[in-house]
Amino acid sequence: MKKSISFFFLCLVLVVACKHMPPLIPTDPTNPPVGGGPCDPDTVYFQNDILPIFQTNCAKSGCHNAASHIEGIILTDYNNIVSTGEIVGGRPNSGKIYESIISSSSSDIMPPPPDAPLTADQIAKILKWINQGAKNNYCDAGCDTVNVKYSTQVKSLLSSKCTGCHNTASAGGGINLDNYGGASTVALNGRLIGSVAHTTGYIPMPQGGTKLSDCEIKIFQLWINDGAPNN
Ligand code: HEC
Repeated sequence: MKKSISFFFLCLVLVVACKHMPPLIPTDPTNPPVGGGPCDPDTVYFQNDILPIFQTNCAKSGCHNAASHIEGIILTDYNNIVSTGEIVGGRPNSGKIYESIISSSSSDIMPPPPDAPLTADQIAKILKWINQGAKNNYCDAGCDTVNVKYSTQVKSLLSSKCTGCHNTASAGGGINLDNYGGASTVALNGRLIGSVAHTTGYIPMPQGGTKLSDCEIKIFQLWINDGAPNN
């Protein structure tokens, strides 16, 4: 009798727990990117918002790129990220990837020290993207090349696509792009545009990532043409 009562309660707990689980949204690694329309401000897009975070902060040499794949984990593109099984659409707490980026333990947190943890804004975007189904989506963000300034378009481009590998704690190739001094040096010596435009003789950037769009390259070019001012 006692046994069947405790079994009854166990079932009840399981039913209640399952009811409170958010719905599982299947993520298929073979899904091609979907979308292309104008960006909806309430949607987080994998190709526009999430992939650059993974490519700059996780898919680095010595970490989770195709050659290094620590613990077998490769985080270079949608297919590889979802194939880890550690991102479950609709359930941020069911996969180790989200758990590791919000971890408070210095031995578990990703990216590990001395790299800086992801910013609150990057973590919030990843959470929202998982809650929205962790889809392989993209949108057309348009191209704002009017009145290009270091403090607006240039800085935000550097922080979304470059500073994960070029920061004070880990300055790839000795280049630090998280401050004006470092950015203007490579802007004025030709290395910035040479590397992002994939010009022969320069190391193509972002390293191991997708080439910047024509619009993004134009933003750098316009700022450099202006003399790379601290404006
Ligand atoms: C995944 C890591 C990573 C990302 C992302 C990345 N870089 Fe790099 N970058 C490196 C490393 C490592 C080197 C040094 C390579 C070497 O010396 O072999 C380097 C070198 C460079 C160089 C010197 C190239 C040359 O030919 O002398 C420039 C300039 C540069 N990066 C700019 C950028 C810019 C701009 C971005 C963003 C659009 C970016 N990087 C994104 C890792 C990265």
